[in-house]
Amino acid sequence: MEPYVTTTIDVRYYTHADAADIRQTLLDVHADAYADRADDSFVQRFPWFVDHWSSNPGFACVIGYDGSEPIGYAYGAAAMPEREWWRDHLDPAPEQSRTFHLSELMIRPKWRKAGHSERLHRSLLDARDDHLAVLLVDVTHPKVQELYESWGYRKVGERQPFPDSPLYAVMLRTLPNP
Ligand SMILES: CC(C)(COP(=O)(O)OP(=O)(O)OC[C@H]1O[C@@H](n2cnc3c(N)ncnc32)[C@H](O)[C@@H]1OP(=O)(O)O)[C@@H](O)C(=O)NCCC(=O)NCCS
Repeated sequence: MEPYVTTTIDVRYYTHADAADIRQTLLDVHADAYADRADDSFVQRFPWFVDHWSSNPGFACVIGYDGSEPIGYAYGAAAMPEREWWRDHLDPAPEQSRTFHLSELMIRPKWRKAGHSERLHRSLLDARDDHLAVLLVDVTHPKVQELYESWGYRKVGERQPFPDSPLYAVMLRTLPNP
């Protein structure tokens, strides 16, 4: 697919208080972004994950819009201390360890290869004051892992949170916060 080039993506911020308002947008964008894996039973459980994450009072989300059209989003939540995804893989633990769990990052196919994922990711984290960001990426998707490495993440371990989920690389980066 040819890249869709536009410079007019608006980034809007949402919290737990917006969960009901943005729920259908999150589901619709996901259906498009994961259309090639629509038969996957883990992918089909996505509505449960949206509700689980957005019901967290520490939920933070950015959605990118091309006019009125949502093109993709990034969301996550503050990690509970001692329950961070990196915790089993780093010894000693970092001294400054306030962590953001980045749960989802997706761009609809029409808007890929134009840098929007980097912008949404940066917009979400710039608005926070965490020391660390951690995300999970399917180990069978090395190109996505490379993309995250180009943003400063490094793999610190592997994790399979559910029996039917993929095996994920746990990727961590420090954030430029005091
Ligand atoms: C990951 C994503 C946000 C990156 O968007 P982007 O910055 O526009 O970059 P691209 O789409 O060009 O992806 C970067 C590379 O990863 C590859 N890639 C992206 N999603 C992939 C997937 N689900 N499986 C395997 N490879 C994937 C792309 O083919 C590309 O490789 P290439 O340059 O050799 O073609 C977007 O591809 C996406 O939404 N993918 C589907 C959802 C997903 O996998 N999210 C990440 C979960 S950790």
